Amino acid sequence: MNQGNIAVLLSGRGSNFAAIVRASRRANANFSVRLAISDRFDAPGLRRAERFHIPAQYVDPRAFPDKAAYETQICELLEKERIDLVCLAGYMRLVGPVLLSRFAGRILNIHPALLPSFPGLDAQAQALRHGVKVSGCTVHFVDSGTDTGPIIAQQAVAVHPDDDVDKLSRRILRQEHRLYPRVVHLFCAGRLHIQGRHVIINEE
Ligand code: GRF
Repeated sequence: MNQGNIAVLLSGRGSNFAAIVRASRRANANFSVRLAISDRFDAPGLRRAERFHIPAQYVDPRAFPDKAAYETQICELLEKERIDLVCLAGYMRLVGPVLLSRFAGRILNIHPALLPSFPGLDAQAQALRHGVKVSGCTVHFVDSGTDTGPIIAQQAVAVHPDDDVDKLSRRILRQEHRLYPRVVHLFCAGRLHIQGRHVIINEE
């Protein structure tokens, strides 16, 4: 792939989206962000996309009879823009069979914990409640489960004794913003290969 076309699906703030866009605008980037899609009209990430002059699209799930119809609409938008890779970034929905099959092996997600620990909602709070000393973030391929797909890359972060959810989330988020663009780069360089549960990262 010479220049990968990326779409980001988001439901909220969009700071990972912004990190991916910034990385795409550096010299030698091998991808560009073509589209942001949100299932929430009021997602701040959509406003960020406008500021970056990236097409931003709100798709209202309630406007469709079911998830398959909703995802068919999303797939049409993605295919129209010739999207190679879909990055979920704070997208608060499980991906269904329509999107999964039409973009098989081409959907990534970032999660604010070291999977398989603390999947699902409020990962940082789960980690704090459990009393772990180390947490972090994970970028993985998306499958039909909640944060269960093959792991591509992880970055550990120390948990401090006086951490609260905000402090830990901020420390993890800084690493998310570094890790996600790196993985997008690897994908677009054709260096990621899924073998069962394992993701092989080929040397350049
Ligand atoms: C991030 O913590 C990400 O790991 C999780 O949702 C949050 C999204 O934040 N999946 P943002 O919208 O990218 O700022």
